[in-house]
Amino acid sequence: MAKTPRILILNGPNLNLLGEREPAVYGRDRLSDIEKACARRAKSLGLAIDFRQSNHEGELIDWVQAARKSHAAIVINPAGYSHSSVSLMDALIAFERPVIEVHLSNIFRREPFRHHSYVSRVALGVISGLGKQGYLAALDALAGILKTEVEA
Ligand code: DQA
Repeated sequence: MAKTPRILILNGPNLNLLGEREPAVYGRDRLSDIEKACARRAKSLGLAIDFRQSNHEGELIDWVQAARKSHAAIVINPAGYSHSSVSLMDALIAFERPVIEVHLSNIFRREPFRHHSYVSRVALGVISGLGKQGYLAALDALAGILKTEVEA
């Protein structure tokens, strides 16, 4: 039987405060609610997930580097680092496998400085504005993409 593909789901700074932080923008779901929903969806799709959050750029980069040996794809909400981190972008380029960028809010309806994301240059796709559903949509897409890769 084929090995279950592992997906690394990364969350950047301040996302540990979800549910308390600006609920009008980010909703009432906590990060743990999103993790549970992702785990359920991944199971139903035949995927395994590792779900992590860090407030530290270097830690996110270390995780992306390590994933080169262990994960088939990355789903990442880089949070504020989307708009500032060339180093995170470089690590994602070196990953050389599918990356999907997710934002809870629609960054294009917000302040102009949020309209640019370094990570988008690397991402296969970007989902912005769908809240928790965006993470689930990313997993749905990856299940199809990884299956296509196996069949190719
Ligand atoms: C965010 C959008 C970013 O601009 C912001 O810095 C975040 C969260 C989102 O999920 O909507 O922290 O990535």
